[in-house]
Amino acid sequence: MKVLVTGGAGYIGSHTCVSLSDSGYDVVIVDNLCNSSIGMVKGVEELIGRKLPFYQVDICNENELDAVFEKEQIDAVLHFAALKAVGESLEKPDLYHRNNVGGTEVLLKVMKKFAVDKLVFSSSCTVYGQPEIIPVNEDAPMLPAESPYGQTKQDCEKLISSSGLNSALLRYFNPIGAHPSGRIGELPIGVPNNLIPFLCQAVAGLKDELVVFGDDYPTDDGSCVRDYLHVCDLAEAHVAALEQLPHGIRAYNLGTGSGTSVLGVINAFEESTGESVPFRIGERREGDIVAIWADPSRAEKELGWCASRKVGEALADAWRWQQTL
Ligand SMILES: NC(=O)c1ccc[n+]([C@@H]2O[C@H](COP(=O)([O-])OP(=O)(O)OC[C@H]3O[C@@H](n4cnc5c(N)ncnc54)[C@H](O)[C@@H]3O)[C@@H](O)[C@H]2O)c1
Repeated sequence: MKVLVTGGAGYIGSHTCVSLSDSGYDVVIVDNLCNSSIGMVKGVEELIGRKLPFYQVDICNENELDAVFEKEQIDAVLHFAALKAVGESLEKPDLYHRNNVGGTEVLLKVMKKFAVDKLVFSSSCTVYGQPEIIPVNEDAPMLPAESPYGQTKQDCEKLISSSGLNSALLRYFNPIGAHPSGRIGELPIGVPNNLIPFLCQAVAGLKDELVVFGDDYPTDDGSCVRDYLHVCDLAEAHVAALEQLPHGIRAYNLGTGSGTSVLGVINAFEESTGESVPFRIGERREGDIVAIWADPSRAEKELGWCASRKVGEALADAWRWQQTL
């Protein structure tokens, strides 16, 4: 089976290309490299031991996407390509809508044209907003999006739901870590938005310190709680979703099923790497959800997938990757 991976040069897409290839799929990558580099494709190629067809194409460009489908006989699409910085989306909501929702519209149109009816979509737990019940399951209501980025995920899920394609909507919780080889990982361009790349940069001396946004929340140690899952576990979930693709549409939470606080992450990092993390407690950050973790039981039951790697392992892998940058 030949699988088109949009955003395949990115963080999660690149790891998924390795898992797909390990499972015997032929992989074709489309990425405009707006938030990644060709070095990540080279890293994937090194890990799988062969070249991959790579097209530097913007998915918003219908003609160029047509040409890829024309040339390659695509059987299924894994759709990662999107802009993902919540803060930037507040400043540039139109860009986020155009790129993420507009790009998905073009992709769906081209898939229809070429009669490709299998899609796995990168969604996010942001579609739940601040959920009332934790752990959150897939039947939780979509609350009003907390950012234009979150809105694009809700809009894309709706578009895909009405497309008639057989699709899995994968709602990721917090992917962290890197491939254990240290060959591919998260490539933060500019100031990192996520906790782990920032933490690694602080430990590497590239940032003065990590600021923990608030330690007076109603959680065990007062800091916010998230469900951190290893990116390699997440990559494997995509293969499982492709293999068990539903007829029609189905959403799956992808998380570990347990939460770790920000201070807990700092402790786990120090324990698993032996490095100390320079940090201080700062003010709460506006809009932060206090605590969220997944109920991943649907993915376990229907896809036969569950996260198997521990947070400490993911942090050690992230640190190994950071040292190569
Ligand atoms: N990383 C997370 O914490 C997280 C959490 C939930 C959901 N997601 C979603 O998972 C997907 C992948 O995220 P990631 O962390 O790997 O991000 P990433 O930025 O590393 O990867 C996205 C890739 O898509 C490419 N891209 C963006 N717009 C494009 C376009 N118009 N045409 C072609 N390529 C384009 C970028 O160059 C990049 O390589 C995204 O859809 C993101 O919203 C990520």
